[in-house]
Amino acid sequence: MSETTTDPVLVEFERGVAFVTLNRPTKRNAMNPALNVRMLEVLDELEGDDRCGVLVLTGAGESWSAGMDLKEYFRDNDGKPRAATLKARRQSSGWWNRLMYFEKPSIAMVNGWCFGGAFTPLVACDLAVAAEEAKFGLSEINWGILPGGNVTRAVAEVMRHRDSLYYIMTGEVFDGRKAAEMGLVNEAVPLADLRARVRAIADTLLEKNPVTLKAAKDTFKRVRNMPWDASDDYIYAKLEQMLQLDKTRGRDEGLKQFLDDKTYRPGLGAYKRD
Ligand code: COA
Repeated sequence: MSETTTDPVLVEFERGVAFVTLNRPTKRNAMNPALNVRMLEVLDELEGDDRCGVLVLTGAGESWSAGMDLKEYFRDNDGKPRAATLKARRQSSGWWNRLMYFEKPSIAMVNGWCFGGAFTPLVACDLAVAAEEAKFGLSEINWGILPGGNVTRAVAEVMRHRDSLYYIMTGEVFDGRKAAEMGLVNEAVPLADLRARVRAIADTLLEKNPVTLKAAKDTFKRVRNMPWDASDDYIYAKLEQMLQLDKTRGRDEGLKQFLDDKTYRPGLGAYKRD
């Protein structure tokens, strides 16, 4: 497979879901400049595309992603002016930051190898499901650096303190089950069931009000690091913004179904869009 003629990112639509595939299988989907630049474009394109209600991020072949491309980002920049390194940093972080607050819900579907720099987009996705057989590693310690590109921050966001330090300091590889146990992914299922499980979660999300989903996820991600008075204010501001943005008036409809029509109870069934 020629790297020059192959699109580094594939997009496939299926019933409201955009399956976005990191597509450099011969390099274990390591993220090089071409892939990072293309991913940012893909996110721009999908943001306004009604065929994408949920974004699923996965990898071609037997890898999710082997992290930053060590040749194209590190070795090829050695000896170049500092501007080259700064450009590389901006290029790689651009789409991860975008993904963190993407308009649509996102699910990481971790089908295989997931190393180093790949932890940042993994954590940037709202949800993550891994194959039990997938292998994860913070390998940086083994070649003389620390987990950069905000990987350390991403790990601290979702994994427990002791587990984070253990894997940062040992570089040991762990599987999908362990990733689920530590909170790095929501759950792990056998590889053969991975796509079906992710599809089922996506279908649940597709039934929700999209304006509410976006407001709810952004609010959770942002208020975690705010003092209580600021978070209280932010949450009310978000609620008011949400009511303005939701042209379907989902809140009124939900209240009507519960209080007047008696057709819906939160514990028994979700509000469904038509
Ligand atoms: N950057 C650049 N190239 C990479 C890469 C990376 N992060 N990960 C894999 N590749 C390349 C290899 O150099 C090799 O290229 P070649 O065919 O031109 O020799 C090709 O991808 C296949 O890799 P290989 O190691 O032969 O595959 P494998 O299936 O035996 O092992 C991994 C898969 C993921 C375990 C192994 O490639 C690996 O350890 N990669 C490095 C992961 C890492 O430390 N990432 C942190 C980056 S921040």
